[in-house]
Amino acid sequence: MMTRPLKASSSSPNTIKRPVLLHLVCAAALFSLIVFVIQSSLFTGNRKLDLNREEVRILSDFQSSLQQCVANRGLGLTAHIIDHCKLILKFPEGTNSTWYNEQFKIFEPLEYNYDVCEAILLWEQYRNMTTVLTREYLDARPDGWLDYAAKRIAQLGADKCYNRSLCEEHLSLILPPKQPFHPRQFRTCAVVGNSGDLLKTEFGEEIDSHDAVIRDNEAPVNEKYAKFVGLKRDFRLVVRGAARNMVTILNGSIDEVLIIKSVTHKDFNAMIKSIPNPVYLFQGIVLRRGAKGTGMKSIELALSMCDIVDIYGFTVDPGYTEWTRYFSTPRKGHNPLQGRAYYQLLECLGVIRIHSPMRAKRKQDWSDVPSREMISRAHAAALRLKRSQTGQLGGLGQFGSCKVWGNVSTSGNGPISGSPDMSNTRKYSNYSKWEIMPFESLRREAQEHYIQMEGVSMYKMDGNKLDDLVCVRHSLKPEV
Ligand SMILES: *[C@@H]1O[C@H](CO)[C@@H](O)[C@H](O)[C@H]1NC(C)=O
Ligand SMILES: *[C@@H]1O[C@H](CO)[C@@H](O)[C@H](O)[C@H]1NC(C)=O
Ligand SMILES: *[C@@H]1O[C@H](CO)[C@@H](O)[C@H](O)[C@H]1NC(C)=O
Ligand SMILES: *[C@@H]1O[C@H](CO)[C@@H](O)[C@H](O)[C@H]1NC(C)=O
Ligand SMILES: *[C@@H]1O[C@H](CO)[C@@H](O)[C@H](O)[C@H]1NC(C)=O
Ligand SMILES: *[C@@H]1O[C@H](CO)[C@@H](O)[C@H](O)[C@H]1NC(C)=O
Repeated sequence: MMTRPLKASSSSPNTIKRPVLLHLVCAAALFSLIVFVIQSSLFTGNRKLDLNREEVRILSDFQSSLQQCVANRGLGLTAHIIDHCKLILKFPEGTNSTWYNEQFKIFEPLEYNYDVCEAILLWEQYRNMTTVLTREYLDARPDGWLDYAAKRIAQLGADKCYNRSLCEEHLSLILPPKQPFHPRQFRTCAVVGNSGDLLKTEFGEEIDSHDAVIRDNEAPVNEKYAKFVGLKRDFRLVVRGAARNMVTILNGSIDEVLIIKSVTHKDFNAMIKSIPNPVYLFQGIVLRRGAKGTGMKSIELALSMCDIVDIYGFTVDPGYTEWTRYFSTPRKGHNPLQGRAYYQLLECLGVIRIHSPMRAKRKQDWSDVPSREMISRAHAAALRLKRSQTGQLGGLGQFGSCKVWGNVSTSGNGPISGSPDMSNTRKYSNYSKWEIMPFESLRREAQEHYIQMEGVSMYKMDGNKLDDLVCVRHSLKPEV
C-alpha cells in the first residue's frame, strides 16, 4: 500500500512534491481507516462475546438448578449437562426398555437429548398465546381462508377453500370472532389425563379445587369415578373420533367447553348441532420434539389461560410398566419413556406440576423447582442469545416475534359463535359467557397482562417456525 506513491515519485523525477504529498496523505488516511474498521469490528465482536458470556453464565446456572431439580424430583432420572443449552436426561441403569420401535428396529433408548434454551422459549411463549382458532386469525393470516382454513376441515378434498362461503359454512359453528379465553384468566388449572394410575389415588377433591379442569376425549365424569378424578367440568379436548360418543359422555353437562384438537368434520358438525355446549378448534403448532399426542395439547391450552398447571393421570413416572385407562381395558400407547423424560423436563422448567401415585405421599413442596424469577431470567437470556445469533441485536420489544399483524375494526367484533345456527338446542348455548366479558370481570392478572400487551392477541403461525406469530391488535376498550 505504501509502496505505490513512493514508486510513483521515484519513477517520475519531474513530478513536483505536491502530488507525492497528496498520495502520502491519502495512503495514511486509507491506512487509518482500515485500522479503524478492523479495531471497531474487533470491538463489537468482543462486545458481542462479552454480552453472550453473560447470557451463557445465566443459562449455565439455570442448567445446574435444572439438574438439581431432576435429581430431587425425577424418581431416578438424571440430567447430564452438555453445555449452556444442551442437556441429556437418562433413565436409571437397568430400566426395562420394552418399547420396540418398528421403524428403526431398536428398543427405545434410555436417554434423550433436549435443548433447554429452545424449550424455555417455546413454553414461556404459550403463557401469552391464544390457542383457539378465531376469525380474526384467519383474516390476518396470509392465505388464511384459502389455504389454512382448508387444512382444518376434513374431507374437503381438492376444493380447498376456493369457495370461501363453503368453508365459512363448515367453520361458522366453531369460529369465534376473537379470543374467547385470555392469558392469566385462571390461577390454577388441573389437566386430567386418562391413565389407569388415577385409580391408585384419590385426587378427586384436589382436582375439583382448581379454578378450571381440563379433561380429555371420552373421560367419564360421574359418581362412580368422583373420588379419583373429581366432578368439575370446564374444558374437554377432543379428537374427531370422539364425536360418536360425546353426547353420552357429556350426559347433559352443557357448560363444558369442547375444544377439537385437529380438524372438524361433517360428523362432528352434526354432533355439535345436537348439543348446546360451546365448541372451538384448537390452534397451535405441532411439536417437533418431545412427547406426542393428547397430553401436550392439553398443557398448551392450560398454559395459555392458567398460571399454575397441575397434571394428573399422565403415567409420567419412570418405573411404570402399565399403559392403562381408568375407565377401560389396557391398550398400547405411544413411546412411553420419551414422554416421561419430557414431562420431567417440563416440571423442572416450571411449566407443569406432576401428581401421580408415586408422588402421592410426598409433601406438596415445589421449592426445588427453579423460581419464576429464575425462569424469567433464563428465558430473557435465551432470547437475547438467540437474537444475537440470528443477528437481530436487541430493540425488538415484546412484539419482536410478530411476523404478521392484523387488526380489528372499531365497529364491533362480529357476532358471537354459534349465532348463525338457531336450532332449538343451540339457542341455549352459553358462548356469551366466554365471548362477551366485561373487562372488569377478568381476573386482575389477566387485565394487567392485557394492558401490558396493549390489547394484542398472539397466535402461533401453525406448522411454521417456532418464533413466527400472528398478532392482532384490539382497542383497549373496557370489553375484551
Ligand atoms: C421387561 O419387560 C418385558 C415385557 O413387560 C418382560 O417380558 C421382561 O421380563 C422384562 N425384563 C426384565 C429384566 O424385567
Ligand atoms: C408475556 O407477557 C408478559 C406480560 O404479561 C411479558 O412481560 C413477557 O415478556 C411476555 N413473554 C413472552 C415470551 O412473550
Ligand atoms: C360456494 O358454496 C356455497 C355453499 O355451499 C354454494 O351455495 C355456492 O353455490 C358455491 N359457489 C360456487 C361458485 O361453487
Ligand atoms: C348422567 O347424569 C345423571 C344425572 O346427573 C346421573 O344420574 C347418571 O348417573 C349419569 N350417567 C352417567 C352414565 O354418567
Ligand atoms: C388495519 O389494517 C389495515 C390493513 O392492513 C390498515 O390499512 C389499517 O390502517 C389498519 N387500521 C388500524 C386502525 O391500524
Ligand atoms: C351461562 O353462563 C352464565 C355465567 O356462568 C350463567 O350465569 C348462566 O346461567 C349460563 N346460562 C346457561 C343457559 O347455561
